[in-house]
Amino acid sequence: MESAFRIPKTEINKFPNKDHTYGETDSISMSNLINYLVKKFNITPPINFIDLGCGDGKLCRDLELLNGNLGLITGVELSKTRHNLCKKLYANSDTEIQWIHGDFINMDWNEYDIIYACNTCFSEHINEIILEKWSKINQTNPKFLITLKELPIDQINKINNKFKSNKNKQRYVIHMESHKMNVSWLKDKTNCFVYYTE
Ligand SMILES: C[S@@+](CC[C@H](N)C(=O)[O-])C[C@H]1O[C@@H](n2cnc3c(N)ncnc32)[C@H](O)[C@@H]1O
Repeated sequence: MESAFRIPKTEINKFPNKDHTYGETDSISMSNLINYLVKKFNITPPINFIDLGCGDGKLCRDLELLNGNLGLITGVELSKTRHNLCKKLYANSDTEIQWIHGDFINMDWNEYDIIYACNTCFSEHINEIILEKWSKINQTNPKFLITLKELPIDQINKINNKFKSNKNKQRYVIHMESHKMNVSWLKDKTNCFVYYTE
């Protein structure tokens, strides 16, 4: 059985500055969190969800089956081996998940309402880019960024101050809620951070 945990060295060498570590997020925890957000923020489904670095696509696939609030589900993955597994493992399913092979940094995230990054092992630089990119998307509807590693508070303060001092443009202030999430590599739940703007 092919596994997403091992990928060829050539793929790792091709992108030496990217993180190739593998682990999986529990879909029931994620589904519960999505339902909580729908209720708390009074969101009208369908909600578009993207997994930044989707591995073999298990989280997307399980969410598609578990969560009726979701609309478009996209899994983007840098590793060709893992991306091929997404397509292969779900080839016979009747679900409609969009699998993208590529770097999530180069994508447009505007059509997504929930952007998830299992970013525990991502470098500070990548985490900063994720926050920066998310803060720039059109936030007229609630848009959530969910991460497992807390994003740099200095950068959040900077973005908030910039929004506050910009009198002409629509202003958003970034807020954060802390939750808990089950993951494949820990016995206990880990912290999970939900960012949203108001
Ligand atoms: C820890 S795994 C998470 C798998 C899945 N998201 C989950 O939570 O169950 C992180 C994945 O991100 C992928 N990845 C890392 N940097 C990426 C990038 N810049 N663009 C797309 N995928 C990336 C890795 O190849 C790896 O498969």
